[in-house]
Amino acid sequence: MIQQEKTNDKQDEEIKLDTIAGIGPKTAEKLKGTGYGDVMAIATASASEISTVCDIGVQTANKIIASAREMLNMGYETGLEVLEKRKKIIKLTTASNSFDELLGGGFESGSIIECYGAFGSAKTQLAHQLAVNVQLPIDKGGANGGCLYIDTEHTFRPERIIEMAKAKSMDEKKILENIFIGKAYNSDHQILLVEKAKDMIKEKNIKLIIVDSLMSHFRSDYVGRGSLSDRQQKLNKHLHTLSKLADRFNLVVYITNQVMSKPDMLFGDPTQAVGGHVLHHAATFRIYLRKSKGETRIAKLVDSPNLPDGEILYKITNNGIEDM
Ligand code: GTP
Ligand code: MG
Repeated sequence: MIQQEKTNDKQDEEIKLDTIAGIGPKTAEKLKGTGYGDVMAIATASASEISTVCDIGVQTANKIIASAREMLNMGYETGLEVLEKRKKIIKLTTASNSFDELLGGGFESGSIIECYGAFGSAKTQLAHQLAVNVQLPIDKGGANGGCLYIDTEHTFRPERIIEMAKAKSMDEKKILENIFIGKAYNSDHQILLVEKAKDMIKEKNIKLIIVDSLMSHFRSDYVGRGSLSDRQQKLNKHLHTLSKLADRFNLVVYITNQVMSKPDMLFGDPTQAVGGHVLHHAATFRIYLRKSKGETRIAKLVDSPNLPDGEILYKITNNGIEDM
């Protein structure tokens, strides 16, 4: 089983693009430069994507995709293999027992977990807390690993990490040394930071990837209705990369998201997450965060494959996230 995984891994990463039928050195360069650097990315792309990126006909693109698919083992896994994989899942603690329980034990590796909410609802605070907690040993709710922190709003604060680390009697300098911050300046840069992360993940034993916030650049880079389908296509691919990393390296992906209000809504809470159905389907767990009085915050599980929806209270103090 492990042997099999390794073989697939090697196949995907080490097949040279120009050995795929239909791809010459020039096309290979174009593909690499636009984020289609491995066979899996090509095998799962659409013909129109490849055709646009390489400036070739759709038919040729189709042929390239077909041969990429043939080169990969895109086969099935048995239920037993999936079970074995699930046994390796890490549940990363939020530092609040009730928050962990809401998620069936914590933030699950192999998944994308989305938290959305209005400003001040604690999305970024949770990101800081997870970046510390991932470095705890496994029996303390951590993953003994590092954190890759994609910061699109420039709100990462090392001072806050120090506070949180001290509260857990952890060596704050070591903690900061194991958080790798990538400041994304626009959506393409954000995509690139994730696509280039593979080597670093292996080298630094990264067990948590944070994207705070996922949509801010996408929203400002693609303005107007005409560009919406472009945006969704890029977003889809970006999420696919994140999900592939989560699966392959058994790590947690935490993304934060903004909300917009729907003034035409008559019943219920008129806020909803941005990003549309592309994002809705990509996140394995979706959590809605809200502000309450003072330090109190509310987390509501709105979407999960196997857990009941529910709502809990926790608080943010100088120590970080805590139970009420
Ligand atoms: P946006 O990014 O603006 O959408 O908001 P967000 O959801 O990321 O909110 P964030 O996580 O930044 O939460 C901000 C809240 O956390 C503040 O309103 C404070 O109540 C609390 N907070 C932030 N920093 C500290 C701190 O250093 N100490 C304490 N005790 N609370 C803090
Ligand atoms: Mg924030």
